[in-house]
Amino acid sequence: MTTAATGSGRDRVIIFDTTLRDGEQSPGASMNLEEKLKIASVLEGMGVDVIEAGFPIASNGDFEAVNEIAKRVKNSTVCGLSRAGRKDIDRAWEALKPAKSARIHTFISTSPLHMKFKLQMEPEAVHQAIIDSVSHARNLCDDVEWSCEDGTRSDRDFLCRVIESAIKAGATTINVPDTVGYTVPEEYTALMRFLIENIPNSDKARFSAHCHNDLGLAVANSLAAVIGGARQVECTINGLGERAGNAALEEIVMALRTRPDVMQFETGIKTTDIMKASRLVSAVTGFVVQPNKAIVGANAFAHESGIHQDGMLKHAGTYEIMTPESVGLNRSTLVMGKHSGRHAFRKKLEELGFNLAENQLNDAFGRFKDLADRKKEVFDEDLVALVDDTVAHD
Ligand code: KIV
Ligand code: ZN
Repeated sequence: MTTAATGSGRDRVIIFDTTLRDGEQSPGASMNLEEKLKIASVLEGMGVDVIEAGFPIASNGDFEAVNEIAKRVKNSTVCGLSRAGRKDIDRAWEALKPAKSARIHTFISTSPLHMKFKLQMEPEAVHQAIIDSVSHARNLCDDVEWSCEDGTRSDRDFLCRVIESAIKAGATTINVPDTVGYTVPEEYTALMRFLIENIPNSDKARFSAHCHNDLGLAVANSLAAVIGGARQVECTINGLGERAGNAALEEIVMALRTRPDVMQFETGIKTTDIMKASRLVSAVTGFVVQPNKAIVGANAFAHESGIHQDGMLKHAGTYEIMTPESVGLNRSTLVMGKHSGRHAFRKKLEELGFNLAENQLNDAFGRFKDLADRKKEVFDEDLVALVDDTVAHD
């Protein structure tokens, strides 16, 4: 399945968000119905193409959440996960039926390790289960995704055979997950390319990447898969997910947007909603975003060192490769600390409403440096107190 080039001439990459399914599988991240509905609504508003809303057979709560999201979401495809059994698939379809655009996502493991120890099935039985499950799902729904769990540790010849069968049985998306975050970018590019080039009728399905972050490579691997021919990436807000998490939506989207010169693809994501989505997911799950997290961390657009602050005040492009506004932040923050210089100090005071004479500024700057040696970060309130003190002593 070729992805139509967009108005810009660049190929479109489908963003499949699984915050509500794989993200929720993160220990301690479970969400109630109300919270899931809020997140689904923000995902829809920001232009996510496919929202994986849950795993309907897992619990009545999951069923209800997928069903409610299916009823309410109009601008994104709503997807439900199921194992390879008919009961799972039927339950997923029952939850998804009200959706304007629905997708059944069915999966089974294909790696020797998983087939032998987890499934305790012979490869040929797994192959037959793939044909049966995908055919059954396709009889219910036009949009069927099939995933070969632990795809990156599967035998290539076996993978080619079962993917060919899944496409023949009606799968419209073929997802090749790096379930345990094991692959590296070059290997994943090569795997995607090999599958797409060697499987008969591979053009009848869209290939998809689904990366976990066990080695911290989930985003790099997702981008590598796109280079290899994948046109869907599966990801979560803030990189939420099992163990070390999934590929972070905001990082993939901003990488594609920031480097169109080397990554000639685009997404339909309204990037200015990224901070809103990040804050909501963090608030709902209680998972704090680490300060130095790319794109959405509190320090992602903060500048403390004097040299950087000075550069920023002259031209923001000196130390920012994207604008904070582009991800929904008002402006970058000058963080005042012991590395800050006079230029940034003066600017910060002006922002706080102080226009000091030169001698006052010198005095205040000296006091600020003493304070910054004692404190990691000097907050606005500290500066206000410090300036009040300076003016009082004048
Ligand atoms: O990581 C994985 O393999 C999955 C599949 C169910 C798609 O989440
Ligand atoms: Zn996963």
